[in-house]
Parts: sequence; structure tokens; C-alpha cells
Amino acid sequence: MVINFVLNKESISVEAPTDITLLTLLRDYLKLTGTKEACEVGECGACAVMLDGKLVNSCLIAAPSVIGREVTTIEGIHTQDGGPNDLQQNFISKGAVQCGYCIPGMVVAGEALLAKNIDPSRLEIREALAGNLCRCTGYMQIVDAIETTAKERSKKSEK
Ligand code: FES
Ligand code: FES
Repeated sequence: MVINFVLNKESISVEAPTDITLLTLLRDYLKLTGTKEACEVGECGACAVMLDGKLVNSCLIAAPSVIGREVTTIEGIHTQDGGPNDLQQNFISKGAVQCGYCIPGMVVAGEALLAKNIDPSRLEIREALAGNLCRCTGYMQIVDAIETTAKERSKKSEK
């Protein structure tokens, strides 16, 4: 079937079987491999994307269910010139990136949180990341990166 949806702000059409997940559609049919495949049962958050602005695990979403909807993957999160944005820069500067496997999902989860809560507490950040596992256990630095980004963005919006 043809699946029409908005991916990272661009309307696209892709021919794919009806019985695949959004994760497979992204990685195997659209070659967007930033979204990671790990548990495939909704337990690790490596495959996290935003669907209509809401954080979801793409391994649990049937590909045809995104028709007419908006999906944002890690490839859609960057500065205007395509470089790492402020949140991604903070992941780097806070030492939050170790093997890197969980990081696309963590960044997507961080952006989903900051889109609805511009000033989250550390507890709220931890709660927002509850579905994302980091096997390298860099949670403290990941929370630091999101907290710092929230503070920097609020400071900018006050100016
Ligand atoms: S691969 Fe989707 S939650 Fe683990
Ligand atoms: S940085 Fe390795 S799994 Fe998180």
C-alpha cells in the first residue's frame, strides 16, 4: 500500500507492506537509521520518535497508522544548517554520549518533553525518560543535558 505522511516536516509517499511497524518503515524503507532497533517490544525507547508531537515507540506503531499524520525522527532535529541543535550540543558537552545507541531516543524524548514543559524539574525529566534505557547508565549526564537546555531556552525566551 502507499503510505502518505509528513516526515520531518516534508510530505512523503512510500510504498510498503501493511504488516510492518513504523520502525521498519523508517529504517528499511526510508533508510533513516538514526532511529534505533533494540528490544522491539516497547521496553527500551531506542526507537522513540514523535507522532503528532507525542513521544511513541515506533516498534509498537503499525506503519499504516501514520497515514495523514506527522512523524519527527532524530534526523528532523537539528539547526537550520543541519548541525546539532542546542540539546544535542549539551548531550556532547555534558558527556552524556557513551556508546550512543540510546541517544537518538533520548534526544527525541528530551525534545518531546521540552515542547510541552519549558521548565521541567529533574524529577520531571527523569519521569519523561522513564521509557528510555541507557545500557551505559549515563542517566545523570543525560538529565543534566536536558536541564541545561531547558534553562538556556528559557533565558533566551525572556530576552
Ligand atoms: S526497540 Fe522499540 S522500545 Fe525497544
Ligand atoms: S550511551 Fe550507550 S546505551 Fe546509552
